[in-house]
Amino acid sequence: MSKLRVSALVAPLFAVLVACGGSKPKAKPPADPAPTAAPAEPAKPAEPPKPTDEMLAASALAEQYATGKEVYAKACASCHGDNGEGNPKNPPLVGDKALPEKATFAKAKLRKKVAFKTAGDVFAFVKAKMPIDKPASLSDDEYLAAVAWFLNENKVALDKKLDAENAATIKLR
Ligand code: HEC
Repeated sequence: MSKLRVSALVAPLFAVLVACGGSKPKAKPPADPAPTAAPAEPAKPAEPPKPTDEMLAASALAEQYATGKEVYAKACASCHGDNGEGNPKNPPLVGDKALPEKATFAKAKLRKKVAFKTAGDVFAFVKAKMPIDKPASLSDDEYLAAVAWFLNENKVALDKKLDAENAATIKLR
């Protein structure tokens, strides 16, 4: 009784294995389709657009302005004014009279022989002399960010993040 049952189960299973290629295939598989007739690929879901170099540069610059605004508020605003407007004791950093090529500030001492032609000149000056009571106390990145911030406030066009190399190529006027 049990023998009969097993063979009754095994026979169809064996037939399935053969049909699936468990032993030699009876017929050759159909020839490959001609290369020109390649099946169309299924449509892929649209990938998010990759940011372009310009987009990356713009976002790095926006980040630098934001950092610069904070640095300025913490380290510079107490003398140069909340918006860089200056006052009788400290020259303006923002506005029509800000960053003249030759110092026009009546009490200027440190800047007497320093000309501001490029962003690099300003960076070198602030790094060496500012904050006036604590010179060279910030990192290069912080000085660059603060300079980028007030240059932007003065409508000096930057198209990418200000760094120690490109600063010399950015003319103030
Ligand atoms: C304690 C007050 C004080 C602080 C804080 C200070 N400054 Fe100054 N800054 C001055 C004074 C005073 C001068 C004028 C120096 C001179 O010409 O002798 C000056 C000059 C400058 C100039 C040259 C402006 C010009 O037209 O001649 C720049 C640029 C400048 N500061 C940037 C900064 C930055 C950036 C910071 C913050 C990191 C800063 N300062 C923090 C007092 C300060």
